[in-house]
Amino acid sequence: MRKSLLSLLAIAVLSTSAVATAATLGGDMKDIAGIYKSLDKAESGDEMSKMLTDMRAKVEDAKTHTPEKAQQDVAGYHAQMDKLIGQIDSAKTLADAGKLKDAKKVAKEMATTRNEGHSKYK
Ligand code: HEM
Repeated sequence: MRKSLLSLLAIAVLSTSAVATAATLGGDMKDIAGIYKSLDKAESGDEMSKMLTDMRAKVEDAKTHTPEKAQQDVAGYHAQMDKLIGQIDSAKTLADAGKLKDAKKVAKEMATTRNEGHSKYK
């Protein structure tokens, strides 16, 4: 009895923390938007590279949350997210090479990907 109560308690604690850490799509998007805004303010390739790594992780998470409008087109939704991830990777390669200006140019192009994604799935 005591043992099963304890395991129930353990499950309750575990599931609460899972809920607390699992981001929603809206939450991910807010984080992505925050990082995206700061990209242009990066003062070094290294700084920008770190921001892009954080942004990539948020986009990967966003990809796992299928919004209502993408239910019938999950592949398209994933492809749009992958397009953004590809741009993040390109920008990171440039940032890592110290080409901050070029990396920022690629970052600017991400706005088109965002707008396409929003018009289809938001
Ligand atoms: C640089 C890229 C992007 C930025 C800065 C961005 C930013 C945002 C922001 C600020 C919101 C509103 C969040 C809120 O207040 O709740 C949002 C929502 C949303 N975005 Fe993005 N987004 C980006 C890319 C994308 C892409 C590529 C897709 C689709 C493939 C997408 C799909 C959505 C959807 C479906 C919502 C609605 C989420 C909800 O309310 O549940 N976004 N985005």
